Amino acid sequence: MPAASAQTRASSIRKRALPGLSFALALAAAPLSAQAQPRAAGESAVVTVEADQPGAQVHPDVFGQFMEHLGTGIYGGVWVGEDSPIPNDGGYRTDVLQALKDINVPMVRWPGGCFADEYHWRDGIGPREDRPVKINTNWGGVNEDNSFGTHEFMGFAQRLGARTYVSANLGSGTPAEASQWVEYMTAPAGTTALARERAANGHEDAWTVDYLGIGNELWGCGGNMRAEYAADLTNRFITFAKPGTGEMLKIASGPSDSNYEWTETMMKISGKLIDGLALHFYTRPRDATWEDKGPALGFPEGEWASTLDHTMQMDEFITRHSAIMDKYDPEQRVMLAVDEWGTWYDPEPGANPGFLQQQNSLRDAMVAALNINIFTKHAERVKMAAIAQMVNVLQAMLLTDGPRMVRTPTYHVFDMYEPWQGATVLPVEVAAPMYEKDDVSIPAVSVSAVRGTDGQVHLALVNVDPNRAHPVTIALDGVNPAGAAGRILTARAMDAHNDFENPEVVTPTAFTGARVSRGTVTATLPAKSIVVLQLR
Ligand code: AHR
Repeated sequence: MPAASAQTRASSIRKRALPGLSFALALAAAPLSAQAQPRAAGESAVVTVEADQPGAQVHPDVFGQFMEHLGTGIYGGVWVGEDSPIPNDGGYRTDVLQALKDINVPMVRWPGGCFADEYHWRDGIGPREDRPVKINTNWGGVNEDNSFGTHEFMGFAQRLGARTYVSANLGSGTPAEASQWVEYMTAPAGTTALARERAANGHEDAWTVDYLGIGNELWGCGGNMRAEYAADLTNRFITFAKPGTGEMLKIASGPSDSNYEWTETMMKISGKLIDGLALHFYTRPRDATWEDKGPALGFPEGEWASTLDHTMQMDEFITRHSAIMDKYDPEQRVMLAVDEWGTWYDPEPGANPGFLQQQNSLRDAMVAALNINIFTKHAERVKMAAIAQMVNVLQAMLLTDGPRMVRTPTYHVFDMYEPWQGATVLPVEVAAPMYEKDDVSIPAVSVSAVRGTDGQVHLALVNVDPNRAHPVTIALDGVNPAGAAGRILTARAMDAHNDFENPEVVTPTAFTGARVSRGTVTATLPAKSIVVLQLR
């Protein structure tokens, strides 16, 4: 859970505009201060894209997913076992596998979360019927039968063609346990006793562990440590975690939200040994407490506005954590890995509150698009991220119920932004009118632009204003396309969502409203819409 200190909202994003005056904030690849430009309400948003000034690469793993032993995120949502009547491939749901392949999931993080620091990997290998049953003390107090363990996780990642992020237990485990797990997974076939044990359990060849998490939220559920102590332990664990095969990047447990002291200490003590520092930030309606976060559906416009206002703080958090990292790592070798992000509302009525089940609406799609635009802006430092969580938990891609499955609005955002995976950032400047509601005042239009691996320029245009369409004029430097086509995600209601009875209420449709003339694209973004265009 986020630390108490992290729950305090910084005031800097709160409404500052004087009555009657609207100022635009820009969201782009250059420093924010260099781009802020006034734009009166009702005027067109004005965007400049510098297609001839390519920036950093958007690492595909920014589109990573988090799966934890939590509720039905794994059991029922991904893993049903070979004997299930639900169609499966070796125990994995075929519908879920296919849906995730369709959005090209690049990386999956497992087994937690808070669960990781209570997880002992030996419980999850060998014949399933012999694996110990334990209690999942973090999430609902339910039985954990360990039927999904290392082999099952690796089999899942292999089926997806995804890179692997394994979180080791630092909080209640030992360096020896972690290093032996790494050896079990990565020692070349036949080389060590653990490699032979792996083979005896059904997998001869080494797997690749692309990322190793060194504990999770060590300031909280991972052990309630001081940063100095956590950093020392991180160094100790890293010293003994040596992969037998492949490169394995070590990700330290990082801050939540605005806990800049944690970043300072971790970078000072561990900055030379780690390859990444995690950042966790969960979006809620702005002034909500953890006890009363508000519902996922049926919320008033004030909660739409404050949720989007809150999520845009990601930009400030990344900027300020990155500035601290720059002091210790000016070469930007150490990545900021936003390995838990997304919305967190009150649990669904009637559901086990420990299962963190919530519906997913157009508001969540907005949160996803805004965050991907922010990650794109910070692509030099943010090289990996994982939305929490992939199936059935918090801001999920997919919801399941028995044999049924539905794609959420957030899933469709990941689908629409697929060209961002591995693309080159193109700097953008945005001058937009403000969307104002109660004490919230945020730019109505957010933009990111990339040159995809297909060589084409792609634009993402997000209108967060639920009441007004906003025209945009996009001047393109260094490219002169003949046309632009793409897709739009929008719906009638702010809380429009997909459920098992109505699975396609929020689904992308063709967007034909963009006009291109002499290096300028014009379009009108309908209220509360996400438009992704490809220039041709
Ligand atoms: O994603 C749910 C939980 O949120 C994770 O287990 C933990 O790391 C965070 O507090």
